[in-house]
Amino acid sequence: MAAFAALAGRVDYADLSARINALTHGEMDTVALMATVVCEMHHADDRFDWTGFYRVVAPELLKIGPYQGGHGCLVIPFSRGVCGAAARTGQVQLVPDVDGFPGHIACASSTRSELVLPVCNAAGQLLAVFDIDSNQPDAFDVHDAQSIGQILAAVFAQIKGPDF
Ligand code: SME
Repeated sequence: MAAFAALAGRVDYADLSARINALTHGEMDTVALMATVVCEMHHADDRFDWTGFYRVVAPELLKIGPYQGGHGCLVIPFSRGVCGAAARTGQVQLVPDVDGFPGHIACASSTRSELVLPVCNAAGQLLAVFDIDSNQPDAFDVHDAQSIGQILAAVFAQIKGPDF
């Protein structure tokens, strides 16, 4: 019973993955894919207070893509913030406390923790980063990162490359 209570409002990743795969099957337009992923993810879990993509639009530069939540900043260089760190290093950024991340960019003062994943095609080219912000501290774990990473890898495998 306690386990159920602790997981209330949490995403069922197998179900989410199946839904996203069905919705995006055969689609090759990057923005259409991003918009669909964001919509499905954002509404699937109470922890997700801001959910969106930052696209690679020039060398070392990210620009806002499809998102849900309050407004996000429009441009992030690879040198800045959690999103920049994910893009620069190609590594998932699991940030339990945004105040403990030097250079965190606060788009909303309510954000307490954050998960940012690089988004690559099958050739390993970086297309974007996927950012989920939560108003709860320490909201995300490795299971979230792995599950979301698998969904993103499947959806964006066939995209040719970044938008420039
Ligand atoms: N917090 C991010 C910026 C994007 S917003 O949170 C929507 C960062 O530090 O890169």
